[in-house]
Amino acid sequence: MRVPDIIMKKRDGHELSSEEISFLIEGMVSGDVPDYQMSAFCMAVYFQGMTPRETTALTLSMTRSGEIVDLSNIRGTKVDKHSTGGVGDTTTLVLAPMVAACGVPVAKMSGRGLGHTGGTLDKLESIPGMRVTLSEEEFMEQVNRIGIAVVGQTEDVAPADKTLYALRDVTATVESIPLIAASIMSKKLATGADAIVLDVKTGTGAFMHDLTCARELASLMVDIGGMAGRRMAAVISDMNQPLGHAVGNTLEVIEAIQTLSGEKRGRIFDLCLELGARMVEMAGAESDIDAARFRLQRTVESGAALEKLREMVIAQGGDAGYVDDPKRLSVAEFSESISAPCSGYVASVDAMTLGRAAMSMGAGRQRKEDSVDLSCGLVTLVSVGDPIEEGQPVVELHASNRSKLSEGLSYAARAFTYSPDPIQPPPLVYETIQR
Ligand code: URA
Ligand code: CA
Repeated sequence: MRVPDIIMKKRDGHELSSEEISFLIEGMVSGDVPDYQMSAFCMAVYFQGMTPRETTALTLSMTRSGEIVDLSNIRGTKVDKHSTGGVGDTTTLVLAPMVAACGVPVAKMSGRGLGHTGGTLDKLESIPGMRVTLSEEEFMEQVNRIGIAVVGQTEDVAPADKTLYALRDVTATVESIPLIAASIMSKKLATGADAIVLDVKTGTGAFMHDLTCARELASLMVDIGGMAGRRMAAVISDMNQPLGHAVGNTLEVIEAIQTLSGEKRGRIFDLCLELGARMVEMAGAESDIDAARFRLQRTVESGAALEKLREMVIAQGGDAGYVDDPKRLSVAEFSESISAPCSGYVASVDAMTLGRAAMSMGAGRQRKEDSVDLSCGLVTLVSVGDPIEEGQPVVELHASNRSKLSEGLSYAARAFTYSPDPIQPPPLVYETIQR
């Protein structure tokens, strides 16, 4: 086999064999296939696409490139959830304790935030003392003992994805459905869960801007997981406006704790019920979705879900006092709000723009090695469809200095538009695919 022939075959729109795909991926990992050939290959895939058979072969080849985590020492059906990445999306911190409180073991490996989206690990590290790096033994022991652990993914999972993603990021080939599906699923298949629920975001703040593409991505990932012997479901959810009100690490943790304690209801809670119900049902803890949803709701009302978060924070070295009183977490000291210039209805609260506003104040990273200001961010005070009065504050920003604050303000102001006529808010969940 010759690499230029494989690239040419894809460039001309033909289907590659599993052997050809493995040859490329193995060659990339060993260093025999240079970046420039992989870049050309990614661009060919970007334009020509891949069949589901090719995408599955690519996924499995990427999974095989590194360590396969064996969770068989954890009792019960292990469930995992993965989000394709959104703004103000702190579902893991709410969902994992709710599901664990139903007696379903949650052994979750998460990533860091990249681009305008936030990552669970950064959020967890907003709680002083919290450790997100556990050895495999510690991780399994903790899940067996308290039913929950959320940690960082080991460096050895799907190394082919790390190399390929870094190349895609600088060659304008991120937005390819087969490449995204293989990237996500290679990591999910390597981290061992029996059942996986995917939260596929669609809207201005997501990788998939329109519903048709989101549906295609969701369906492809469900099929790949199914072929690899996993129980799969995908929920397609809205990312035109941020999921929750807070955007920024500490602020999102505060909102997550308020949601778990039942103090706050809203889109985060509603989405956690949808995702969680699939997890609880696929794990076999409830036989139907409505019963699962009801049971999850009870974990918040009874305080069991908040107690699970406390147990996890303590087990991972964090100070549980912050779970009891999240307002003690430190939020950046310079703060200012933006007010509506007119009366009417909120027409848009643009997720991408607000994600960038939080980034500009230091809440996220452009490159993997950048450090993050955990204390900065913003809190929206309105949602799409809300009636609004002129002068009413719509968002509050928090930054560590004046210049960062004004940078954030200039971005955030563009996220809001208004209409004199009533506006129908977008649905939270568009559809669920389960096979
Ligand atoms: N998330 C991933 O892990 N990979 C992609 O390619 C896109 C989103
Ligand atoms: Ca995430």
